[in-house]
Amino acid sequence: MTSAAPAPTIDLTAPESFARGQPHDQFRWLRTHDPVHWHPEPDGPGFWAVTRYQDVKAVGRDPGTFSSVPTIMIPDNEGALDAGDHQMMITMDPPDHTGHRKLVSSQFIPRAAKAMRPRIEQLAAQIVDGVVERGECDLVEDIAGLMPSYVIADMLGIPLEDGVALYRLTETIHAAPESRPPGAALGAVLEMFNYARQVWERKREEPGGDLATRIAFASVDDKGLDLIDFNLFFILLIDAGGDTTRNLVAGGLDALFQHPDQLAWLAADCDGRLATAVEELLRWISPVVYMRRTATRDASLAGAAMVAGQKVVMYYGSANRDEEAFGPTADQLDLARSPNDHVAFGGGGPHFCLGAHIARIEIDALLRQVLSRLRELEPAGPTEWLASTFISGPKHLPVRFRPGA
Ligand code: HEM
Repeated sequence: MTSAAPAPTIDLTAPESFARGQPHDQFRWLRTHDPVHWHPEPDGPGFWAVTRYQDVKAVGRDPGTFSSVPTIMIPDNEGALDAGDHQMMITMDPPDHTGHRKLVSSQFIPRAAKAMRPRIEQLAAQIVDGVVERGECDLVEDIAGLMPSYVIADMLGIPLEDGVALYRLTETIHAAPESRPPGAALGAVLEMFNYARQVWERKREEPGGDLATRIAFASVDDKGLDLIDFNLFFILLIDAGGDTTRNLVAGGLDALFQHPDQLAWLAADCDGRLATAVEELLRWISPVVYMRRTATRDASLAGAAMVAGQKVVMYYGSANRDEEAFGPTADQLDLARSPNDHVAFGGGGPHFCLGAHIARIEIDALLRQVLSRLRELEPAGPTEWLASTFISGPKHLPVRFRPGA
């Protein structure tokens, strides 16, 4: 864009801005003209929209100045469940956060993730088995959405189908208020808490080798976690891993349909090319649109004067298209891109995505199955995008393919 190009209307709080994927025209204008932009907020005081790569990293890596308390969503009353003095670790700062993350982090390190690969590959095959004879399906519902729910269910030590049912509850909780029946969100929270309580009771009676057992018996600073702590952990794990991986796989395939040369290049040698392709699709889709922080003190960022208490929002999708970080091809999908130091999993601070290694294996296994077994795969209708200002990805992606065995 030249400086003479008219400025697009900037509105990062409008769901319509995200109704066809991320608003890259707005992001491009902001990076060039106002990289730390004061953005008005309906029913709120406003926030700083941070759109350049280096600034996003700087905010994410400085929890002393940019706190995750009280919430990581733009509205103050979202993303932090009202649970008295109990918090999810994603809305904590160090040192509280450090102690909580340590409880579970050993299950997410590269070695643990690698050990899960055979099981994840088996699940990917099972998911594609479920559709391969049909010749058509919804890529979001029937393929991409199942994998993360199955994997987290396995990790927690609950039945696979329960993982899918619980994930649907998180969708109800996150749906735009106008799109769900009155009371539905509260009902879903109660159902989720009720399920989590039963898991807590069962695991304390019959401990297993799973993550839920570990959390049910855990303590931080010699203080045992209680049922509410357990519930919050449980919901965070179901939630954080669910729609992100789904949106990456479905959004990634949507991007490949729009770039048939890239799709053909990848399909010709999945073994040799998937590793860089997965990283590029993460950069391209950036399923998490933003994370919010709150300034703990007055601070300056790229010339913007921030005041203690103001909201500061990191736009990962924008940082991932920043020409200063990715060069003149930042706006091109290049599945061979290397290096590719994207920020789809965060900019590297204490909250850097816990599930990043597992997510990569899930995405790799699923794309491998889809590309090798669903022959002549093509869209069978328009892609419908989630109109969410927080999570980016397709809601429905109808596809057809040659039925196989
Ligand atoms: C494509 C898939 C995924 C993407 C793009 C993604 C992205 C992110 C991002 C941007 C954050 C916040 C980073 C920050 O604030 O610095 C995050 C945090 C988190 N993610 Fe992921 N994620 C994905 C998959 C997963 C999976 C599969 C799991 C679990 C199995 C998971 C569990 C978590 C947890 C627990 C946190 C909070 C970590 C903390 O507060 O310390 N994520 N993720």
